[in-house]
Amino acid sequence: MSLTENLKRIVGEAFEIDADRASTEQIEFPLMPLGTACDMGRDENGVPLIDPRIFGSREFQRNPYPYYHIMQDHYPVFHDKLNNCYFVTRYADINDAYFDGLGFNTIPKGSSNHVLGNTQLELSGIEHSRRRNLYGRHLVGSALTKRFGAICKMANDMIDTWFDPTSGMSEYDPATGKYVIELGRAFANEFPIRVVCQVLGFPDESQDRFFYWYKNMMGGIGGRDFEQKGLMARQDLEDFVEEIVEQRRTAPQYLLDDNGNQVAPDIISELCQTVIDGDYLSTEEITSNIALIVGGGGETTRGAILNMWYLLLQHPDQMAAVLADDTLWDAAFHETLRHSSSIGGQPRHNTFDVEMHGIKIPAGSLMHMVDWAANHDPRVFSEPEKFDIFRNDLYTEKIVRAGYRKEGKCNHMAFGVGPHLCPGAWISHQEASIGSNIMSKRVKNVRIVEERMPKDIDGVSLAPIGLGAINELWLEFEKA
Ligand code: HEM
Repeated sequence: MSLTENLKRIVGEAFEIDADRASTEQIEFPLMPLGTACDMGRDENGVPLIDPRIFGSREFQRNPYPYYHIMQDHYPVFHDKLNNCYFVTRYADINDAYFDGLGFNTIPKGSSNHVLGNTQLELSGIEHSRRRNLYGRHLVGSALTKRFGAICKMANDMIDTWFDPTSGMSEYDPATGKYVIELGRAFANEFPIRVVCQVLGFPDESQDRFFYWYKNMMGGIGGRDFEQKGLMARQDLEDFVEEIVEQRRTAPQYLLDDNGNQVAPDIISELCQTVIDGDYLSTEEITSNIALIVGGGGETTRGAILNMWYLLLQHPDQMAAVLADDTLWDAAFHETLRHSSSIGGQPRHNTFDVEMHGIKIPAGSLMHMVDWAANHDPRVFSEPEKFDIFRNDLYTEKIVRAGYRKEGKCNHMAFGVGPHLCPGAWISHQEASIGSNIMSKRVKNVRIVEERMPKDIDGVSLAPIGLGAINELWLEFEKA
């Protein structure tokens, strides 16, 4: 029996589907109406089967939730024998696993560490907690609040360019008085990176280089084809940081508030002064921390801003409510992350043999905690596919490390929970809400330029967000 035939048989047995139909090659799955799963067969009890090749399909990318619901209902721990991993899809199970740092550890993650280096994402237990709080205070609390002015200024400066005909950021039609921008290019791609670049303490003139590091390191994480470029960018970042580190070890620099008062040392200066187990952090360790912040702080917030505007503009009553009441941006931000986050989940490895929902999982297995599914778990969020900033089952107040599951409300999982809860959650929240609020005051009669946006399978409706974030968002508006 050839290798392919053998694999066909194993896959066939694993999913109890006809071996002739089973193959390791990707097949075309039909594109289904949203909310409906394609038929992958049924077992003898009539339970729908999941063919793991669906995960790599275009259908799953645009319409994942009916498949996640099959998994939640029938295979809460789904053993993907084709890729040798386990998918955990129920909110409660994922929540428990994230809090159990001993039982479900993060080592080795593998996916990002080639390019980013050995970051706190990869660490567990005491090693992790020692490094976790090195610079956290810059991204939360009063150090963050005191810098709101700087964040607002950056947003306003970027928006100014939309109305400057020489910037090339917008198309203007004098006959109608309307502007057209692509929101990613004109704002969301760069704004979060600029904020992060400043908090880290990079000189302003390094911003272009910063984008080079960011784009290539992110590309390098995404796939083997780009890994070499990612590694080169990472080396370039390290060379650049080395010089700055030399200077800041002896002469720390400070972030300033609106009145020019020192708020705190910038993150690089802070890392330069940090001593762990009697040793200063090495340049390599400092670069890895920086690389993680660069990587963690860009694409994620970009996606939140684009998805939030896309969803709000498709729900005009909710958009109108937000425009009438600024405080609703918080709920809009959190509901966007629940409904459609750019981060879909985190891998973990079980430290010990465990049995979950009757499935035996040998120690050291790769387990995917699927935050996307948790955020659409009907056991927690009613009508989960509905975008509703007024839903009463989602907690939208202060983000807490312990998560929130009280009074019929739960936090979403887009920032994770527990020891690895995203330390950038607060700053990204502020970037997205402040940036969007400012934008909403400077433009009016905003609409999606549907002609330029991708369509769904009917060729008419706007394409669903599916997994991740939309690539582009074309908007038309007038100057307010
Ligand atoms: C909407 C925006 C964001 C989303 C959805 C997001 C999501 C996440 C998630 C899910 C994790 C947990 C990883 C795990 O459990 O293993 C994480 C960790 C992390 N994020 Fe974010 N993030 C966002 C913005 C940011 C920003 C703006 C920064 C930095 C300025 C940042 C820096 C980090 C870092 C350093 C970690 C590692 C934490 C640790 O392992 O202890 N993130 N993020």
